[in-house]
Formats: sequence, structure tokens, C-alpha cells
Amino acid sequence: MGSPVAVSGLRLLGRTGLEVSPVSLGASTLGQDRPLGEPPSEHAAETARTMLTGPFRLVDSSNSYGQGRSEAALGAGLAALGGHLPDGVVLATKADCDLTTGRFDHDRVLRSFEESTRRVGVDHFPLYHLHDPYTVSFADTMGPQGAVAALVRLRDEGAVGHLGIAAGPLSLVDAYVRTGVFDVVLTHNRYTLLNRSAAELISAWSERGLGVLNGAAFGGGLLARGSRPGATYAYEPAPAEVLAFVERLDAVCREWDVPMPAAALQFSLRNPAISTTLVGTAVPARVEQTRVLAERVIPDGFWDAVDELGTPPVDFGED
Ligand SMILES: NC(=O)c1ccc[n+]([C@@H]2O[C@H](COP(=O)([O-])OP(=O)(O)OC[C@H]3O[C@@H](n4cnc5c(N)ncnc54)[C@H](OP(=O)(O)O)[C@@H]3O)[C@@H](O)[C@H]2O)c1
Repeated sequence: MGSPVAVSGLRLLGRTGLEVSPVSLGASTLGQDRPLGEPPSEHAAETARTMLTGPFRLVDSSNSYGQGRSEAALGAGLAALGGHLPDGVVLATKADCDLTTGRFDHDRVLRSFEESTRRVGVDHFPLYHLHDPYTVSFADTMGPQGAVAALVRLRDEGAVGHLGIAAGPLSLVDAYVRTGVFDVVLTHNRYTLLNRSAAELISAWSERGLGVLNGAAFGGGLLARGSRPGATYAYEPAPAEVLAFVERLDAVCREWDVPMPAAALQFSLRNPAISTTLVGTAVPARVEQTRVLAERVIPDGFWDAVDELGTPPVDFGED
């Protein structure tokens, strides 16, 4: 029988020296149960509090998630804890472009950081990412007035601990990694049961000493909820061949009595080059459910049966 990952075990986040649990929580949909401008709901604050006090040691947000509502909910959860993060919990967030103008330069990063600290109610983030730098060129972002210079300044001043690059297209992510500025890389939807395009780069990044966060092991939900009309992968409608593959995968899961979300999560957990796998949720009960999925014992033969399904069908056609 395969042995599940011990969710309470800690792993070094690359060369940062930070320690993280193999599973971490993503807060991209947190707080969206309330319209913009309203304070976080009790439910969102309770979800945040549960995320911060559960068995997982890293919670990931960004300035832009829910246009600030995710960070505000985390702030409400933290306030319910008297403003004190439990020992060893890494609360990470990201600098984003101005969502109205797309501006993403030096000054915008400093403003983004101020907005995040105000919403969360902290003055320091141990891990701070450059998030989805799509509205500006790589050259401008790396230039003297660019976003990366501001990130380095924040790190040098001690306002943030370590810098990460968090984005989709692998060639872009790798270009930022190769600058040597970043200690952490966050990839998403590209190392899952439906797409393995990040496999080689994840190994290479880990060998360079970077901490690797793998986001969206459920592909944004499809691999947790299963194939159904209107389902999405990586936040876009899933093509018919993807839904058909998920149905075949589901059949293998039923044959081996393995819940599909356990398979999807543990597919990522089995890769030793991944420091931590991010599971997104806005539901408190999911924290415990995620622990159970991570600890589910899956027979080794199951993975052979998954391999026999053939090449995973999702192709971003980008890298
Ligand atoms: N560019 C970036 O930096 C980037 C991009 C993508 C993701 N990320 C990070 O990675 C995190 C994870 O990605 P993601 O949230 O997009 O996708 P995901 O983790 O693949 O899937 C999240 C979805 O799965 C559902 N879910 C979770 N556990 C479940 C369970 N046990 N049973 C049924 N449904 C379940 C959640 O719904 P409920 O709310 O109902 O639990 C949510 O809709 C994000 O939150 C974010 O922190 C970063």
C-alpha cells in the first residue's frame, strides 16, 4: 500500500528557511459572499480563522482576490485571534496591478503592499509574490521603475521576508525565476491529473533551491467535484475531451475506492520537488476534509491504473 503524506510534517520552503506543511490553503474565493465594499461576513471570518488555526501552515492570498475581500476576510479572522498568528503560520500575499488601469510599476507595488497590510492588519508578510504580471512587459517590470525593484526594496527594508513569482504561463514564470530575484515560485493548474506541463520546470526550480508552491491541484474544482455540464478547468469552460477524461478517471477512482479529490491532491503531494500544494476554499469544513483527503491511504496500483489512462488532455498551448 502507498503511504500518505503526514500532513503535520514540515518541509523547508526552498532556501527561504521557512517551514511549511505539505498542504497549504488558498484564499482566492474567500470573502466573495459579500458585495464589494461591505465588511466580511461572519462566515468568511470564521473560514479565515479556521484556515489560520488548522493543521496547515501557509495561507495564500493576494491583493486582487475578490478585489480585496480575501485579504479583508483574513484580517477579520486574524482579529478574532487577537491579532496573533499561530506560531509558524505563514500568511502570504501578492502584489497586484491596479485593477482599473493595469498599472503595475514601482509605485503601484508599494501601494499594493500598503493596501494589503491595512486589510490584513499586519505590517509584514513573510512571503510576498509578484502576481500575474500580464499588463506590463517583462523588461519594464525588471527595469529601474518597475515592479520588481519595489519588491526588492520592500525585502531590503524588511517589510517582506521572501519574494515569490506567482503566475500561469510557464515560460514567463521561468523567465522571472532566472532573474535570481525570487526564492519561491507559485505555479497553478499545470501539475495536476489533467495537465503535467510544469513537471520538468518544477524539478528544475527545486534543484535551484526555490520553494515550489503548486496551486489548483483540483484544477479550480473540476477534480474535486467531477465532470458535469458547465464544469471549468483553470477557470475556463472544460472542453468535451477533458470532461470525458475526468469521467474515465472517475471510473478508475471508483474501481479502486479512492475519492477523486484525494487522488488529485495526492498526485501533487507525491512530487518531492513541490514544497507545498495549495487547496483553495471558502468553506471552514474543507480544512478538515482536506486533511482527510491528504491522509487517505491510496494503493500503489492505483497510480499505475491512472497512468494507463494515457496523456492528460489539458493543453494550454502557451509554453
Ligand atoms: N496566479 C496565481 O498566483 C494563482 C492562480 C491560481 C491559484 N492560486 C492559488 O492556489 C489556490 C488554489 O487554487 P484554486 O482555489 O484556484 O483551485 P483548486 O484548489 O484546484 O480548487 C478550489 C475549488 O475546489 C473546491 N474544493 C476544495 N476542496 C473541495 C472538496 N474537498 N470537495 C469539493 N470541492 C472542493 C473549492 O470549493 P469550496 O470553496 O466549496 O471549498 C474551490 O471551488 C488559490 O486559492 C490561490 O491561493 C494562485
